[in-house]
Amino acid sequence: MLKGKKAIITGASRGIGKAIAIKFAENGAFVGINYWRSHNKAKEVLKEVKKLSDGILLQGNVGKFSEAKKIVSEFVEVAGRIDILVNNAGIYKRSRFEELGEKQWDETIEINLKSCYNMCKNCLPYMKEGGKIIFISSQLALKGSAHGADYATSKAGMLGLMRSLALELANRKINVNAIAPGTIDTDLIADYTEEQRRKRIEEIPLKRLGLPEDIANVCLFLASDLANYITGEVIIVAGGLYIG
Ligand SMILES: NC(=O)c1ccc[n+]([C@@H]2O[C@H](COP(=O)([O-])OP(=O)(O)OC[C@H]3O[C@@H](n4cnc5c(N)ncnc54)[C@H](OP(=O)(O)O)[C@@H]3O)[C@@H](O)[C@H]2O)c1
Repeated sequence: MLKGKKAIITGASRGIGKAIAIKFAENGAFVGINYWRSHNKAKEVLKEVKKLSDGILLQGNVGKFSEAKKIVSEFVEVAGRIDILVNNAGIYKRSRFEELGEKQWDETIEINLKSCYNMCKNCLPYMKEGGKIIFISSQLALKGSAHGADYATSKAGMLGLMRSLALELANRKINVNAIAPGTIDTDLIADYTEEQRRKRIEEIPLKRLGLPEDIANVCLFLASDLANYITGEVIIVAGGLYIG
């Protein structure tokens, strides 16, 4: 579905980003695997990607504009252009608003939201007609969170940027969409106790946590030509948790 396409995925050393990198490689894309701190894990992802297609590692903190610029220029030097950008990198440090300090607020907004500005700004000059930008937001962007005001705000901000770019880039035939995952079984929820996991599964109408592949499947669809008439949309992938 993505034969010959050149794709950058931020935060692809683990979890959802890793699953997207592998799914894209399975479908013929050349994959830029961005990561920040997990060098060995990113190397493992590249190894898997190379068995299926080809790709490169792109180290850097996407929250910093200068690092995003370096990541993009390293990718373009090898790949020549960018067809697909997936803004996936993110952090979630759960705390209630009373305990939420300015440092954590700034860090969450920088890594989850400013990173999207940084990456879109640097990638767009290299994107042509048929390009796709996908934001990995969260259902909490739509619901809010009683233990992550910074996180929910950053994820809602992503949707504002996504819709604005969808309008602005429509004349260039670049599609811009978002996925809003529910609870996906990755390191991001590693701090859940057994009891919290059990309770969450009970709350989900489909009675299981999401898998990274559940998100990667939808991301593949949005990155492919099958989604050419979809722009400015949010697809909730949450096993019914949002409506349940
Ligand atoms: N898991 C869920 O339940 C869930 C639900 C809704 C939305 N999401 C969203 O899905 C995305 C992926 O989450 P996940 O569950 O896969 O999380 P994860 O397993 O914790 O992985 C996070 C990824 O983001 C990367 N990253 C973090 N900060 C970065 C930075 N400043 N620059 C570059 N890369 C950075 C990490 O790279 P390194 O390890 O190399 O530092 C890692 O590859 C996030 O945006 C998250 O908010 C997740």
